[in-house]
Amino acid sequence: GVNGFFGERMVDTAQRCGAEVVSVSAEWGSIIEPEAIEAVLKKQKKVKLLALVHAETSTGVLQPLIEASKLAKQYGALFLVDTVTSLGGHEVAVDDWGIDICFSCTQKCLSCPPGLSPLTASQTALDVLKARSKKVQSWYLDLSMLYSYWCAANRIYHHTAPILMIYALHEALAVTVEEGLENAIQRHLNHGNALKSGVEAMGLTLHAQEGHRLSTLTSVRIPSGIDDLKIRKGLLNEFGIEIGGGLGSLNIVLKYLIPR
Ligand SMILES: Cc1ncc(COP(=O)(O)O)c(C=O)c1O
Repeated sequence: GVNGFFGERMVDTAQRCGAEVVSVSAEWGSIIEPEAIEAVLKKQKKVKLLALVHAETSTGVLQPLIEASKLAKQYGALFLVDTVTSLGGHEVAVDDWGIDICFSCTQKCLSCPPGLSPLTASQTALDVLKARSKKVQSWYLDLSMLYSYWCAANRIYHHTAPILMIYALHEALAVTVEEGLENAIQRHLNHGNALKSGVEAMGLTLHAQEGHRLSTLTSVRIPSGIDDLKIRKGLLNEFGIEIGGGLGSLNIVLKYLIPR
């Protein structure tokens, strides 16, 4: 599914791995509707994997996943989800939602330094891995080797683990547990709502589709005639408030605000 910069990036990544990709696209700022996903699944002979971005950082959209997951199962495809901007800030019910491969990051809602990508694979995904007749093209991201290194009873060396990062992640998770995951999610919602209300009270327009807005990231349209770089620099230098610039094709119209 492509409704933003990171959906596009997944397409690019998959194509570089030799996958034949069929994109289901939506406006950058809208969700991808289940009907659009089903129309593509119906049309293709066999889809091996349905991939969606849960929280599209480039637009501020929270993609609904449950219907999509059901469709993936119905059409015999694995379901992969990028939860980079949602894990720790929105509900991510990997097993309940039937996600087969879910990956995230440490550096966003978990407030940890960057450097690791937490990843989970369902038994179905592991079975597909085991049944492969050819080696995975990437040595570095060969999940079967990673499985042997991280999870198997007889562990086999694959890479040198970034131990400091693992300590950092452990601490970040401990802080999350101390706060309580539900409280952390509620905190993101409260701050996100406050920010959105304030932005709208200033007469600015939010970009993401109403009802599907991230609490972890708020995207705002820049009014015409405004030099956003100047404003962003001023906010950063004078008030310590950093606003990210737009990404990809929304570079000109969109900025996202990350409350600190
Ligand atoms: C939704 C999403 N996916 C993937 C990435 C890529 O993560 P990284 O920058 O850690 O490679 C990002 C980064 O912001 C993201 O927001």
